[in-house]
Amino acid sequence: MRTETDQTIYLKDYAPSPYLIERVELDVRFEESETRVRALLTILPNRDTEPGTPLVLDGDELTLDTIAIDGLPLVLSAYAATPDALTLMEPPHRRFVLETEVRLTPETNTRLMGLYRSNGVWCTQCEPEGFRRITYFLDRPDILSTYKVTMTADRALAPILLSNGNPSGGGDAGDGRHYAVWEDPFPKPAYLFALVAGDLAAIHDSFTTASGRKVALAIYCEHGKQEQCAYAMDALKRSMAWDERRFGLEYDLDVFNIVAVSDFNFGAMENKGLNIFNDKLVFARPETATDVDYAGIESVIAHEYFHNWTGNRITCRDWFQLCLKEGLTVYRDQEFTMDERSRPVARIEDVRKLRATQFPEDGGPLAHPARPDNYREINNFYTATVYEKGAEIVRMLATLLGEAGFRKGMDLYFERHDGDATTIEAFIAVFAEASGRDLSQFEQWYLQAGTPDLEVGETWDEATRRYSLSFRQRTRPTPGQPEKAPMVIPVRFGLVGPNGSDMGWSGVSGGRVESDLIVLEDGETTITFEGVASRPVPSLLRGFSAPVNLTSSLGQAEKLFLARHDADPFNRWQALQDVAMKLIIDAVDGAALSTADADAFTDALVETLGAEGLDDAFKAHALTLPAETDIARIIGKSVDPDAIHAARQSLIAAISERAGHALGEAYDARSADTPYSPGAAEAGRRALRNTVLGLLVRGGAPGAAARATTQYHEAGNMTDRLAALSSAVAAWTGDAQALLEDFRTHHTADPLVYDKWLAANAIAPHGGTLERLRAILADPDFPRNNPNRLRALVGSFANANPTQFGRADGAGFRFVTDFVADVDRRNPNVAARVLTAFRVWRTYEPGRREAAERALRGLAEAGGLSRNTADILARTLD
Ligand code: ARG
Ligand code: ZN
Repeated sequence: MRTETDQTIYLKDYAPSPYLIERVELDVRFEESETRVRALLTILPNRDTEPGTPLVLDGDELTLDTIAIDGLPLVLSAYAATPDALTLMEPPHRRFVLETEVRLTPETNTRLMGLYRSNGVWCTQCEPEGFRRITYFLDRPDILSTYKVTMTADRALAPILLSNGNPSGGGDAGDGRHYAVWEDPFPKPAYLFALVAGDLAAIHDSFTTASGRKVALAIYCEHGKQEQCAYAMDALKRSMAWDERRFGLEYDLDVFNIVAVSDFNFGAMENKGLNIFNDKLVFARPETATDVDYAGIESVIAHEYFHNWTGNRITCRDWFQLCLKEGLTVYRDQEFTMDERSRPVARIEDVRKLRATQFPEDGGPLAHPARPDNYREINNFYTATVYEKGAEIVRMLATLLGEAGFRKGMDLYFERHDGDATTIEAFIAVFAEASGRDLSQFEQWYLQAGTPDLEVGETWDEATRRYSLSFRQRTRPTPGQPEKAPMVIPVRFGLVGPNGSDMGWSGVSGGRVESDLIVLEDGETTITFEGVASRPVPSLLRGFSAPVNLTSSLGQAEKLFLARHDADPFNRWQALQDVAMKLIIDAVDGAALSTADADAFTDALVETLGAEGLDDAFKAHALTLPAETDIARIIGKSVDPDAIHAARQSLIAAISERAGHALGEAYDARSADTPYSPGAAEAGRRALRNTVLGLLVRGGAPGAAARATTQYHEAGNMTDRLAALSSAVAAWTGDAQALLEDFRTHHTADPLVYDKWLAANAIAPHGGTLERLRAILADPDFPRNNPNRLRALVGSFANANPTQFGRADGAGFRFVTDFVADVDRRNPNVAARVLTAFRVWRTYEPGRREAAERALRGLAEAGGLSRNTADILARTLD
């Protein structure tokens, strides 16, 4: 697959740019089918640049119209222009102004990178390398410039003209046209550039910062959707207040604008002062958005806002440092959610996501360090490892340094690096300096790929009251990293005594123990506690204090003891997950599910369901069995998705049989029809009720299918309606087909709800699924250029329908590779992302493994793939 022309970029080759761009003045003129961009770039040679060094500006599908330096047109021999680059052979060895003009056709830009049109609205996506599709530039994050942007457009077509920074003028341009000027005083890399021009509605609000500056806030959207932006606006104001409270960080411009667009490759983008969002992360009303959607909006609004400091004020020196802004900002948005909602519940959700997305990445062919050291296509490194593992690394740092120590380091980071384009090393250095600790081994978390396996054994000596824990850590080889070093692993813990409370000890030896934290540094560590009153049950990795795979020698009974008594709610949840996981895996291995084991587990579930002091959202997670993909990951080899589905199903049936009564009561007790509010408590009530419904329907409880149908029809909000539909579809009840049709008929006029219908179809664990999906895709009216539609249909299928994607006949695999080949021609980012679902292919049993490999090789042999997709494919097959 790899060809000579494949260019791998290495971190070790980083060198500062020979030229800097101080100032950018853009003049953008929008016409019905063409846009002209005139750029005035104030350029100067960097220190140490030899006179005569050529200047190479990046381009991507550009055509140069005119070029001048300091107002004088250039002779042909002075430069070379191709679609990918503009080279000045011998630029002046002083500050000079380069003037270029290019012509763009955003109307035909289906890649949705650079300038494109979404529903007629002109908008941009520049991170990571989209700005070079707008004008020739040094498109790298260590080139920081101030921007002045003048936009001119037909007043009727584009009454709204937005760019970064503050508005600084505008007016009539004659001929029914008008113009607007925006100035961004904060030097920024080009990836943070944005503009929007179109006929948009808006909601307006304001926020007064701690120091008393009034910031004008607006969310722009298509006409008629304004009321659906209220929740996002509320989340924005809460985010602004939180960043002041928690980190002392204030907003720095006079305006903060958000624009919702319907065609967007990613979730959202933190452009300075002008965030652009995938509209599904802005629009919410009870009839169309679920509780999960509301929570997603809240967290992404916060995430993009938080980037203003962690990303924009302090940015990345190069793209290898992506985790510097993403890992840290995910950590910040996670903390925001924890403070706004329930801390343990948010933690469970974050860990579920980590295990569902990052662990399989880290254990498969696409594994890479949180800070990679080479890439062929940077777009392929916006991964769960960079984002979610990156956040876990920051979380471990906070755990190791304590809240105050962590804050001290963050303060020093902002004090020292405000205005910089910097590195992971610089980030770690401020924490080392602020805490006086040596963090050199800790840094391995950024450099070494793979999820460490952590094995624990215990010994108890009744006579001496001595209790020991022996830890062994091992990280398996990953691509390019055959040998692994031991990691610093913070293990938050407690020794739980017979009455369920944590016990103390009189002395400890053999390793680093700081109150309730064990800090492992070596491959093997044995820690001995003296003076322990009685044999404890260890509760380890409380709050999931490190992103590792923990295996212990605890039996099912001890786990169930923790499930009932652990002071750490996360570990209560984890204990139930572990027990279920073992029951299911034993069943996959052919052992019939023993009634006694299933009963003991079910009793613990029922007890949790009735426990006081636990909120409903927590209980909903407690009642959710490990996902089939999670079970497959733990099994790790010779995976047969049908066997996993059947085994999990048998446990659900056993639960619903033994606990049917308690579950039914819990359902009824939470059926009060209060008006919808998206708050955590109400959402938790709905989550628990719907989880219970799912168990009963899938478990085949008498009357449950009818209950789902009734709930579907009577639901007063999308959360309850979609949950009922999903239960019916997952169990493929007698009504499932009719409910899908009803939903299609009555609820899919809104494109975001249509996505829910597409996904519901896609995840049905049912033999007819593939045919239905083919029919949907074949419809000439299917919006085949919209990323949300494509991901809802095929992304959900590949990632969330293990039995049908993993069909034994290989048809699921071929469906996805055919789709990738087709979409890749129009949108490489979407195609490459969908293809990553194949990262598990080697873990299948031989028949499916061959089928998956055949599909992948077929895609490779057909050729003509984008660099994005070719890169994922080559690494997947390697
Ligand atoms: N920086 C944006 C965010 O985290 C995402 C940009 C995604 N870009 C990409 N090439 N995947 O919020
Ligand atoms: Zn981000």
